[in-house]
Amino acid sequence: MNGVPELPDMSAVGAWLTEGAPDNAIPEQAMSPIAAMRLIDQELAVEGIPERNLATFVTTWMEPEARQLIEGNLHRNFIDHAEYPQTFEIQQRCIRMLAELFNAPGETTGTSTQGSSEAIMLGALSLKWKWRERREADGKPADSPNLVFGGDVHVVWEKFCRYFDVEPRIVPLQPGKYTIGPEDIEPHVDENTIGVAAVVGTTFTGHADDVVGINDHLLDLKEKKGIDVPLHIDGASGAFVWPFLYPHSEWDFRLEQVRSINASGHKFGLVYPGIGWLIFREKSDLAEDLVFYENYLGKTDATFTLNFSTSSSMILAQYYNFVRFGKVGYRRLMEVMQENAASLAADIAGIGKFQIIGEGEETLPLVAFNLAEEHPYDEFDIAFQLAAERGWMVPAYTMPPNAQDVKMMRALVKLTLNRSLVDKLHLDIAEAIETLEKKGPVSKSERRLVKTSVTH
Ligand SMILES: Cc1ncc(COP(=O)(O)O)c(C=O)c1O
Repeated sequence: MNGVPELPDMSAVGAWLTEGAPDNAIPEQAMSPIAAMRLIDQELAVEGIPERNLATFVTTWMEPEARQLIEGNLHRNFIDHAEYPQTFEIQQRCIRMLAELFNAPGETTGTSTQGSSEAIMLGALSLKWKWRERREADGKPADSPNLVFGGDVHVVWEKFCRYFDVEPRIVPLQPGKYTIGPEDIEPHVDENTIGVAAVVGTTFTGHADDVVGINDHLLDLKEKKGIDVPLHIDGASGAFVWPFLYPHSEWDFRLEQVRSINASGHKFGLVYPGIGWLIFREKSDLAEDLVFYENYLGKTDATFTLNFSTSSSMILAQYYNFVRFGKVGYRRLMEVMQENAASLAADIAGIGKFQIIGEGEETLPLVAFNLAEEHPYDEFDIAFQLAAERGWMVPAYTMPPNAQDVKMMRALVKLTLNRSLVDKLHLDIAEAIETLEKKGPVSKSERRLVKTSVTH
């Protein structure tokens, strides 16, 4: 040795350091586990930091014990009920717990899913099948089903209609009116309506449709015209928030026409992606024809899913949260997020440029806001500036028709956004505004980088 440090063996690290990552074909040669891990880890470093992603509703932090449970069960295929009966029992417990939380009147059924999208596809399929049963029993044609919902729904509802051949009857929004009520659905509902979908906790502003009003209208329709139209609640985000923050608000099975509810365990259920839930009011609300029976995994099993194999980890993690936090813990966690959201809303309003959307109404722990007046810059410029200066991901987006001229911004306040980060975010928004006041709107090329997605 002459004082020059010995270099590591570069062949063990891998050619990717200087040649780039394999991207078109599986490489012929192997690499060491550490090299493979570093290759992927280094690439991911260019992405946003999940804790600063205020666009997503999805959980970005869980307790170390929950992570341990998740890691320890990734290899347990949930669908192997015969081999893993206790995992199946734990899933059933979660379904019963959610049914109780949503005030189901008695014994019910449901399923875990990959997320709310799968839950909605399955729930809406059941609406279609049950409608067809009713039509056939009455000797009436069942060839032109429709589904009624507002423009405030997530894209999955339109996806369902296209994939499964149902006419979407979409109630348009209006500037300043971002949820729907009975007067909106009334002209669209008829005997071919398989159901009405109402949202509790919309993707766009976090508020709830007038579920009580819609339920009353459907009851009236049943009584006066004999048309029984079920109501499905899209509680992707809200079904884990409303029971704890607004326990006296009726949006669930306390209302007679509410026949099914979906919830995303990976949103305010506080579990990592992907886990969702579909809960029926009564067993009979699940169309029996949609349940498949097979015995290739060791015993006869009933399945009602679009997928088959999936890891057990997130189901176990959901049960972990239920028993770990209890109702008291969930309530406290929701209150923490709500308090921080209220503080952020007050701070943003205090900047003097913005209006807070639907302030004082029941909503998710988030702040939806937009510029109160015209400026040389807009919400998309602010989103860019905030990301460029501090790496915050606060999306800007336009509202659905007929409010498409309204621009909006939205910051989710999850557990990872504690009060000191709320204060920091407020100062960073104020600073971004200051920069834009001085330099004017951002350039065209900068605009292309703005985070605009609202759909999760
Ligand atoms: C109201 C609503 N419904 C459905 C979905 C789809 O949920 P998932 O991402 O769990 O499939 C979302 C996602 O944000 C949502 O906000």
